[in-house]
Amino acid sequence: MPEPLLHSAGPRGLYVRTFGCQMNEYDSLRVQRLLANLGYVPVNDIGQADVIFLNTCSVRGKAEQKVHSFLGSLRRLKVTKPHLKIIAGGCVAQQLGEKLLDRFDHLDMVIGTRAVNSVGQMLQRVQESGGRLACVPDEESDGTEIDGRKIPPQAGVTALVTIMQGCNNFCSYCIVPYVRGPERSRRADEILEEIRRLDESGVREVLLLGQNVNSYGRGLGENITFADLLRRIGAETSIARIRFTTSHPKDLSDELMRCFAEVDSLCKHLHLPVQAGSDRVLARMNRGCTVAGYMEKIRRLRQICPEIALTSDVIVGFPGETEEDFKKTMQLLDEVRFDNLFSFRYSDRPNTMAATFADKVDPEAAARRLLELQSYQADITLGKNLAEVGSTRLVLVEGPSRASNGQMTGRTTQNRVVNFQVPLSSIGRIVGVKIAFAYSHSLKGDIIPT
Ligand code: SAH
Ligand code: SF4
Ligand code: F3S
Repeated sequence: MPEPLLHSAGPRGLYVRTFGCQMNEYDSLRVQRLLANLGYVPVNDIGQADVIFLNTCSVRGKAEQKVHSFLGSLRRLKVTKPHLKIIAGGCVAQQLGEKLLDRFDHLDMVIGTRAVNSVGQMLQRVQESGGRLACVPDEESDGTEIDGRKIPPQAGVTALVTIMQGCNNFCSYCIVPYVRGPERSRRADEILEEIRRLDESGVREVLLLGQNVNSYGRGLGENITFADLLRRIGAETSIARIRFTTSHPKDLSDELMRCFAEVDSLCKHLHLPVQAGSDRVLARMNRGCTVAGYMEKIRRLRQICPEIALTSDVIVGFPGETEEDFKKTMQLLDEVRFDNLFSFRYSDRPNTMAATFADKVDPEAAARRLLELQSYQADITLGKNLAEVGSTRLVLVEGPSRASNGQMTGRTTQNRVVNFQVPLSSIGRIVGVKIAFAYSHSLKGDIIPT
């Protein structure tokens, strides 16, 4: 059926909803840039959308369920607005492909993680034919990927820059290598060019993204390591702050650790997922790293950069995890004293090795362990925040605080959120803030007049 005339003229509304990690956020940006070329403008109100793009996450069962229920909730909207096109992209789309179309008859299009650059052409085909389409290639199908019609804009003080895609590690619990494909690094010149453009547009901080940025450069044929890339960004752009995520401990080199002391614009924070504190569990997770190896890296990092803040990810209730194993994870938290921690209950994922392990942990025991671990870490995090009271920290002003109490929010180099009173004109500036109060997830302070 041809499109009604009403909707073929003027700008069309694009509503994007992103689930999952920051790499998905970056891919959503790619989609926005690609569809901007076809005249789509982003809308915040779903009611104004002509196209809805749902960028999905499959990392844990719960994440996938959220996607399914959101998709289900769109059925009514489609009934009231038949010309609306609904697209599912991201990791659930890659995982389920056509099955998603079968399951949701109001879904128009499914696009895999490696076909993002085809979103415009596919949408046009769907609009012209009035049919439904799924494209979930296992291999790169659209040139060198990223492109997103050569990316920037990104409004805001902080911008995301994906520097590598995919993962080769196959941790036994993880679906990511299956839905994102093998690891591939982006050319350094392209990354630097993007950062320069962001810098010129007013961005002050970049967050470099990859599933394992520490192995950046492998297979690129440019003879460059991640540490080299950081040094080049520090030396060749005037971006004020650099952050990155995520790092795999097995690939954390001394050379990279030294960047924390030597690259001025590199923020003093490292997210280094450990996953478990028992060697037996780590081996079954296929992490390629032991507890002693991890602790040695932490010791070295703190020696090179004593003020570095450390955060991590932990999974509890991994198949075969005993009370003894769990105690070892608690012991590790006690020894490292992370500044913050993200912890998850193990969840079976399709295709993964761990899903085939027979010795699953009783769900109640896993839930209890998670609570225990989270409350233990909450005390550590609060203690670390309390220790900030009285100090003066440099904070990059990001914008109005979510609490909408007239305050502004920003982060210290150690990635702590600070709220304080400052005029709107200060957005994008780095200011000194004297910390007066500490809470579980943030700090509050007073600006030091300059
Ligand atoms: N590339 C990152 C992690 C990406 S997934 C890294 O290697 O660190 C983010 C986090 O989700 C992981 O660190 C892990 O803690 C958690 N996670 C991944 N798969 C999971 C599963 N099947 N069950 C529970 N947690 C999981
Ligand atoms: Fe998943 Fe492991 Fe790759 Fe991280 S390093 S994305 S946890 S397989
Ligand atoms: Fe989720 Fe895919 Fe990211 S599974 S965590 S959106 S890579």
